[in-house]
Amino acid sequence: MNEGGTPFGKLFVLSSPEEMARAAAGRLWGIARERATVLGRGRKETGRILVALSGGETPRLTLTALSSEPYRDRFPWSLVHFCQVDERWLPPDHPSSNRRMLKESLLDRVPVPPDRFHGVDTTLSDPREGARRYEESLREAFGDLPAGRFPRFDAVLLGLGTDGHTASLFPGSPALAERTAWVAATEGGDPPVARVTLTLPVLSAASHVVFLVSGKTKAGILARVLSGSESGLPAARVSPQREKTIFLADADAASGIARKSRPAGGEGRAPGEGTGAG
Ligand code: 6PG
Repeated sequence: MNEGGTPFGKLFVLSSPEEMARAAAGRLWGIARERATVLGRGRKETGRILVALSGGETPRLTLTALSSEPYRDRFPWSLVHFCQVDERWLPPDHPSSNRRMLKESLLDRVPVPPDRFHGVDTTLSDPREGARRYEESLREAFGDLPAGRFPRFDAVLLGLGTDGHTASLFPGSPALAERTAWVAATEGGDPPVARVTLTLPVLSAASHVVFLVSGKTKAGILARVLSGSESGLPAARVSPQREKTIFLADADAASGIARKSRPAGGEGRAPGEGTGAG
């Protein structure tokens, strides 16, 4: 595993998708462990850890790793609320439903009570209603913050589309300009479907952002995002403090990053094994 700095945060290059998934699970565990320590189980039973998970295919391996040993027995499941970063407007049992992917790779495999998962209800009348109701449920989970304040997720897991989208924020989407709502209805993807997504201010308010990028098809776009010269790409606009953002890429996804600018050094500490702040 190599590591190095980029304009948007640290890049960790792992040898394979499986190694990347283990590193990502370790990172999520590191963040949750640090947060659980801060909450102090004995002192603030009402304390909670809020994690937002993206859809698509890349998170599947990571969430399966998180719900397997050694993390399954160590993760503070009783403190965590899982939320969706975004959802395609499809029936919840549709093969391309993000909720279905989260259910299969995580929620059906670990002791997370139903009231600890906050998802988009795609059985409602339309995506706008779905966005409105999802924002309501997040306001209940976070406590209704004053206008202009955004929820601070402890961790947000994001993917990267080949067009530079992340969450369901696609290039040119009006939702990219959203500055007050926490959730927006959008559309896009291949094939394009209606979607519901967290907005940029929410993603940027996170304490920790973990991008997962896997496979040769992502090599070009990852190099473009990390070059720092295409700040208009949606993924390049998620901007929490640099030290709170990491990119986990497998060797194929990192193959578009010239060796000279790839992380120096050899095997280092897996990102997740340190504290979440590291
Ligand atoms: C979605 C995702 C989206 C995803 C990227 C990468 O619903 O499609 O949230 O942002 O992260 O499209 O998708 P893959 O992981 O399938 O490559």
